[in-house]
Amino acid sequence: MKIKKSSLKQSFAKLSNTKVLVIGDLILDEYLIGSVERISPEAPVPVVWVRDEKQTLGGSGNVVQNLTSIGVNGIVFGRIGEDKAGENLERILLSNAVAKEDLVLLKSKTIPTILKTRIIASHQQVCRVDREEIIPLTKEEETEIIIQLKGKIKDASAVILSDYDKGYLTPSLIQAIIAVCNAEKKIVTVDPQVSHFFLYKNIHIMTPNHHEAGKALGKKLVTDAEIENACREIAKELTPDAMMITRGEKGMSIYERTTDLFYHIPTVAKEVFDVTGAGDTVITTYTAFVATGMSIKEAALVSNVSAGIVVGKLGAATVTQTEIEDALKNLGYLDEES
Ligand SMILES: Nc1ncnc2c1ncn2[C@@H]1O[C@H](COP(=O)(O)OP(=O)(O)OP(=O)(O)O)[C@@H](O)[C@H]1O
Ligand SMILES: [Mg+2]
Repeated sequence: MKIKKSSLKQSFAKLSNTKVLVIGDLILDEYLIGSVERISPEAPVPVVWVRDEKQTLGGSGNVVQNLTSIGVNGIVFGRIGEDKAGENLERILLSNAVAKEDLVLLKSKTIPTILKTRIIASHQQVCRVDREEIIPLTKEEETEIIIQLKGKIKDASAVILSDYDKGYLTPSLIQAIIAVCNAEKKIVTVDPQVSHFFLYKNIHIMTPNHHEAGKALGKKLVTDAEIENACREIAKELTPDAMMITRGEKGMSIYERTTDLFYHIPTVAKEVFDVTGAGDTVITTYTAFVATGMSIKEAALVSNVSAGIVVGKLGAATVTQTEIEDALKNLGYLDEES
């Protein structure tokens, strides 16, 4: 499988004019980084002397970060609390090239911003502290979000549902969002939750990993044949244009429902440091490139190459256009003739 260089260049040229709407669960990731010099006199636990701290975008925010990195503008729908973490999350989103008018945040007085704090000493996680209340949106909030979505969707080329099952994407909101997207002829791509799996009807593509797809079907998905059967079974139920199952160190498999064809793409990762967020990179790059007019097969190849790059970096990492082009070229995926 190869990508024409002209097709890649055309997509690159279109990315800066492409807007992708990301809707889902926003999370603030916090890191407190230090060293352990002694054990606490209060309890048998280490005392971490904090020397550095940082906050980054997590959950659907990591999808936004991935969009920014490839030069695509995001429109962001999500919920934060009226708290310090919420202010920080908003500020980081704005600094990630999201325009103020493209940030459609529901600010809750009662539900806190989801904050996950990792305490790290000598490159090891000592513990993680989570602050979250998983409370579904109210019907009134959903109605308001759908009104806002109808106002914003015209500016978007595609919509990503980034579902972490933290209360924002309720079953009724998922269905209402898809209905709006279908009416406006905008493609919808979904990084699904197992609990919502069979709600994502009539979308463009869903990108579960093999564990999630297996859980949803109550089967283990290991071999190519098992993956193919699973794709067909899910696609029959949900009638998407295509179905993708990511397979960790085995890469990914894509099924095109309209042609009944499968593509099994092996991973291109040479060194694996941190697989965190690889799924976010897959859905972001796939969606952005399909939105520029690239074929399903080519966009999947780009997303697999992009994932292969981010797993070689630490943390929830991102890729750039240059890294994608260099990797495609070095891997022999680029057809330079055209
Ligand atoms: N251990 C690995 N070795 C090589 N490539 C990998 C590895 N893990 C992930 N990848 C690459 O990243 C892609 C997505 O990874 P994976 O299937 O783990 O998604 P995921 O479980 O949804 O990730 P996330 O942790 O972001 O939710 C794969 O299709 C593959 O290209
Ligand atoms: Mg995932």
